[in-house]
Amino acid sequence: MDSIKVRGGHPLKGEVIISGAKNSALKLMVATLLTDEKLTLTRMPDLADTRFLSGLLNHLGATVERDAASMTLHTARLASAEAPYDLVRKMRASFNVLGPLLARNGQARVSLPGGCAIGARPVDLHLKALEALGAKIELSDGYVEAKAEKGLIGAQIDFPFVSVGATEHAMLAAVLAKGDTVLENAAREPEIQDLADCLNAMGAKVSGAGSSTILIEGVDRLRGAEHAVVPDRIETGTYALAVATAGGEVLLRDAVWKHNTALWDRMSAAGAALKAEKDGVRVIASGDRLAATDMETRPYPGFPTDEQAQFMAAMCVADGRSVIRETIFENRFMHAPELMRMGAKIDLRGNEAIVTGVESLRGAPVMATDLRASVSLVIAGLVAAGETTIGRVYHLDRGFEHLEAKLAGCGADIERIKE
Ligand code: EPU
Repeated sequence: MDSIKVRGGHPLKGEVIISGAKNSALKLMVATLLTDEKLTLTRMPDLADTRFLSGLLNHLGATVERDAASMTLHTARLASAEAPYDLVRKMRASFNVLGPLLARNGQARVSLPGGCAIGARPVDLHLKALEALGAKIELSDGYVEAKAEKGLIGAQIDFPFVSVGATEHAMLAAVLAKGDTVLENAAREPEIQDLADCLNAMGAKVSGAGSSTILIEGVDRLRGAEHAVVPDRIETGTYALAVATAGGEVLLRDAVWKHNTALWDRMSAAGAALKAEKDGVRVIASGDRLAATDMETRPYPGFPTDEQAQFMAAMCVADGRSVIRETIFENRFMHAPELMRMGAKIDLRGNEAIVTGVESLRGAPVMATDLRASVSLVIAGLVAAGETTIGRVYHLDRGFEHLEAKLAGCGADIERIKE
């Protein structure tokens, strides 16, 4: 298994080009199942997760062609309406093929995704949304068997709490339903807006995305389209926190300022300077230690859970005590014990981490159990004295395109060790 070695103590200078958002790209790829014409996605990140999903889509009948930063998907006809366990269990976003398969084929069989390291992550809201749209659903042997032989029918769906995945899944299913669908208490993430834009380019009628009420007027068919994936706000936030922690000044090219305002607010409070520029966002480290700042994760536009681990890494070397509260996932502090092995002082109390900043961290061999946790260890490694080796790099490869090259391009001492 590959690992990444970081030798800390080098401020970051220069620019990083922000890739397309992983969490948008995956749902946009699934939209190929809704049309027999070609869907071309540009600013498409090349990640382990996008490759893995290509495998599942191939199995379902799609051809997937990559050319530099664009991907063309074409599902002229479905080859199968079954998504087997092995192609779903490794990546939860795969479950979102269920709605489109049902919409296109009238029936589908898709493996349940199961739990994952950051929490139980059930799919009850996804299933309730599909049932509201008229699907008959049965669970058997770890599979969801769904039928809508006369097609899906528009409905009013009130989500009891905000779910990004369930909102997207309902959108992907309702675009081809008969009649109107209204989603209440919908997620408002930029990825939802991106999905709506892509579906609309394909001929769907989705309005209100980005607000908590989304209206979908069902259409009979969707056509091919070309769509650029929204820049990755989580990658943006990750590099912004890396600069604020390691020191220096970097332009995050193509980053969208308004997609990270909750982070900018916390980083400014901690003493980093952030500027919206024509080409992206400029991050200028304070030149001194950051000031400890409290933070709580929330659905968008609140502070993203996917930036919590990276923020914690920054607070480990801040001046003072910071209280970090995780409200989205029940088990998302697995980076904390690893950061402590590097000398961080963190007291975990349920969904709160109390971080007392130290003057310096020291490099160590560390291991992480999920994508965002792994990258928080890279950030810690950039500021730590000595060498940090991060194992299980496959987690990083799931969601960060050219991570070592992007950081090395800004002066970090980082390399991948192939095993
Ligand atoms: N939930 C339920 N039932 C459901 C759906 C969700 O109880 O049917 C719960 C979840 O267990 C969680 C909360 O609702 O406690 C919010 O989950 P949500 O559905 O919003 O998350 P998701 O769609 O599964 C996406 C991202 C995550 C990101 C979350 C929150 C993708 C592929 N994943 O997950 O990204 O953390 O939204 O913003 O889009 C990552 O990229 O590292 C990652 C984990």
